[in-house]
Amino acid sequence: MKKKLVVATNNAHKLEEIAAILGDEMELLSLNDIHCDADIPETADTLEGNARQKAMYIYENYGMDCFADDTGLEVEALNGAPGVYSARYAGENKDDEANIDKVLDEMKDVPEEKRTARFYCALAVSRPGHDTVTFSGTVEGTILSGRKGGNGFGYDPIFYVPELGKTTAEMAPEEKNVISHRAKA
Ligand code: IMP
Repeated sequence: MKKKLVVATNNAHKLEEIAAILGDEMELLSLNDIHCDADIPETADTLEGNARQKAMYIYENYGMDCFADDTGLEVEALNGAPGVYSARYAGENKDDEANIDKVLDEMKDVPEEKRTARFYCALAVSRPGHDTVTFSGTVEGTILSGRKGGNGFGYDPIFYVPELGKTTAEMAPEEKNVISHRAKA
């Protein structure tokens, strides 16, 4: 029987990426799969802190092994914003499109050579009887002045990776899953 691992998300895109990165050694369960509809606290002021909070919440309340990630887009010209606030950059009830619009608007006068950014992924693994451990990974890129590509999710359409000459939204899943912040973490 495969080992079960809860991935603390209901984001279908994220789950797909994690499943592709981890392969089929483990059975991955989403929050829906374990009937968890709680608003899991993410009140830390770092991505690591939030990932840890989510993973520990699951193992403390459900007694299951859990894998949680928290990602931030860090834009140099915005002093590292949106960073830990990436999910709600345009406001609590806003979506990916509104978040992208806000970044593009704030970057509209920033010249090309100053548009560097990175995705930073912190992930935490909690297992009953073990200390919670955290890992991190980054991918470097630049922010385009408009959207490009229809794959991926979140900020992918504006995140250009010079090494590959395309945005993470223009990459096939197999390409993104080799170079991504999440894959490295
Ligand atoms: P979270 O890690 O699910 O909390 O995501 C934080 C924010 O970063 C959300 O706005 C996501 O859409 C965005 N995000 C997370 N992972 C990625 C990614 O791989 N590419 C682009 N945006 C991402």
